[in-house]
Amino acid sequence: MSGVPLLDTLNGRTGSPPPVWLMRQAGRYLPEYKETRKQAGGFVDLCLNPELACEVTLQPIRRYGFDAAILFSDILMVPYGVGRRLEFQEGRGPVLDPMESAADIPVFDADAFNARIGNVYETVARLRAALPTEVALIGFAGSPWTVASYMVEGGSSRDYAKLKGWAYGRPKDFAALIGLLVDATVEYLDRQVAAGAQVVKLFDSWAGAAPESVFGHAVVEPTAEIVRRLKERHPEVKVIGFARGAGAMTRDYATATGIDALALDSTIPLAMACALQAELPVQGNLDPIALVTGGDALKAETDRILEALSGGPFIFNLGHGIVPQTPPENVSALLKHIRG
Ligand code: CP3
Repeated sequence: MSGVPLLDTLNGRTGSPPPVWLMRQAGRYLPEYKETRKQAGGFVDLCLNPELACEVTLQPIRRYGFDAAILFSDILMVPYGVGRRLEFQEGRGPVLDPMESAADIPVFDADAFNARIGNVYETVARLRAALPTEVALIGFAGSPWTVASYMVEGGSSRDYAKLKGWAYGRPKDFAALIGLLVDATVEYLDRQVAAGAQVVKLFDSWAGAAPESVFGHAVVEPTAEIVRRLKERHPEVKVIGFARGAGAMTRDYATATGIDALALDSTIPLAMACALQAELPVQGNLDPIALVTGGDALKAETDRILEALSGGPFIFNLGHGIVPQTPPENVSALLKHIRG
């Protein structure tokens, strides 16, 4: 036992109650976040301000006592770090300059990258110093496929038509873009771990948009390469992988990438989650809307998950991020229900 419940679970132990944290636990459902966000100026400014980013990371830890803190930043800081333009517009989400051709693929320069986003590492170091030892610190990055989707499409997308156009029609350019993102992600996570992150999570939020013929080289292989190169530098680091929407391809993702634990979205049936748990620790997968609903429905949904997965290494979490309309008191009720 390490004295850090999340690390014990990632090492294969069964915790009772299971450790719990929530995706997007810092954010707009919290009044204190909205207050700090106003002080910061833009969203990118908030991500690059170690004092304020540290503050918003700690807000949900103070309020709820989660078992892990997740660095406050965004998966789109990697495109920003490699020199792409990034803005978050109110009501529209992220806006980037869409990439049109191979000429738009930046050449990776680690020094220039760290000069642009190195403040994030300072936030990690401050967090590790500020957090109680039993609270694990999670760093993160987006996975190449998901980050590439924002870079090529210029923002969120409904059909990923441009990204898939690259994957099917311009395989060399597509591979070059994924390769750039693997290099940048390894650098970014290496530096987060060196600064004090004990766990890192790879968010492949749009893995479900990759058809079978693309999934291997766009999702599984780049993830495996990131995990391998990161663990070469930091053999002790634990990696949680999240291939949202991967459905029937989830098992392949879990076993072929070298990840230490698998984060499950809310569409994964609990029988399948339980079968996967025989191979590696699992995390998930309460529907964020059940957390908005609250009351008996929240308890019933939580109990289904606890009954299915508490018998093995398990981290309680949502199947996707907390949504802004979540009543903060429902999060307290959830924790009380899990911890008794
Ligand atoms: O508490 C935490 O989980 C840590 C911080 C965190 C944020 N984004 C903060 C954020 C993390 C881990 C992310 C990951 C992220 N960012 C993902 C992967 C997880 C997922 O949700 O699927 C993705 C796809 C993004 C990209 C992104 N960032 C979008 C599409 C948007 C706009 C939509 C939205 O939710 O507003 C963001 C903005 C963003 N990232 C906010 C926060 C708190 C809201 C911005 C604001 O405060 O104005």
